[in-house]
Amino acid sequence: MSRLLPNVKNIILVASGKGGVGKTTVASNLAVTLSRDGYKTGLLDADLYGPSVPLSLGLEGQRAIASHEDNKEVFNPIERFGIKVMSLGFLMKKEDAVIWRGPMASNALSQLLENTRWGELDFLVIDMPPGTADISITLTQKLPQSKAIIVITPQQVALADGRKAASMFTSTNINIPILGVVENMSYFVPENHPEEKYLLFGKGGGQQLANEFKVPLLAQIPLVSDVCELGDSGKTVFASSNKIIVNAFQDLSGKINQENTVLT
Ligand SMILES: Nc1ncnc2c1ncn2[C@@H]1O[C@H](COP(=O)(O)OP(=O)(O)O)[C@@H](O)[C@H]1O
Ligand SMILES: [Mg+2]
Repeated sequence: MSRLLPNVKNIILVASGKGGVGKTTVASNLAVTLSRDGYKTGLLDADLYGPSVPLSLGLEGQRAIASHEDNKEVFNPIERFGIKVMSLGFLMKKEDAVIWRGPMASNALSQLLENTRWGELDFLVIDMPPGTADISITLTQKLPQSKAIIVITPQQVALADGRKAASMFTSTNINIPILGVVENMSYFVPENHPEEKYLLFGKGGGQQLANEFKVPLLAQIPLVSDVCELGDSGKTVFASSNKIIVNAFQDLSGKINQENTVLT
């Protein structure tokens, strides 16, 4: 079988051991940053059980337009902030998501991946489901050319989850390179005192995981008070009044391109 998505130069799987660590926030904002840096970028929401990319980019309620090509139904991704976005949320009503189970979920994911008109892309960023469930395994099998980023939070208890996610990629039957670790909510920066840093959730988790897997710590993204509100109202970190988080994403985009020898 020929390789899937031959017109996509780099596929980046954004993964985490558990939900709530900021995987969607990192995936969406990374995609937007790469696009602002001049790369043709797509974003696939593969978190079928909690597709939250539409909300985070202000695309809730949008529907992808379908058409027929070679006897199959294909979908146009929805463009936002210069990126091509696809999510199960664009194909179905929110309430229906609960019916997806095992093989059905894998089928749905295959369709999103294969029947979307991505066109030529420098980067496809994929917001993975949390943990090491079936969908994650399906994705790594379908896209063996991918590279992964592991998102964790700094506290020691988060390490075990991060380790599980990282171990999935490095297991001999999957063997997907890890580009590095992103530590999210590394420190708190108050809006009125952007020069101050508070380590709310302890420290060192991201660096420790990076050391264990001999990969770089790509970014330490601060907890910034307006990010939650921005995400809920479909705005990116570029609308934040706190430029520290913008810089963190710009650094991350730069590091990914440095680490990424594939990009020509
Ligand atoms: N760096 C950050 N600063 C402030 N809030 C954040 C940050 N990262 C994520 N959040 C918020 O935390 C919540 C969980 O983030 P989300 O990206 O949805 O996590 P996941 O996809 O891992 O479940 C969201 O409300 C999001 O806006
Ligand atoms: Mg999410």
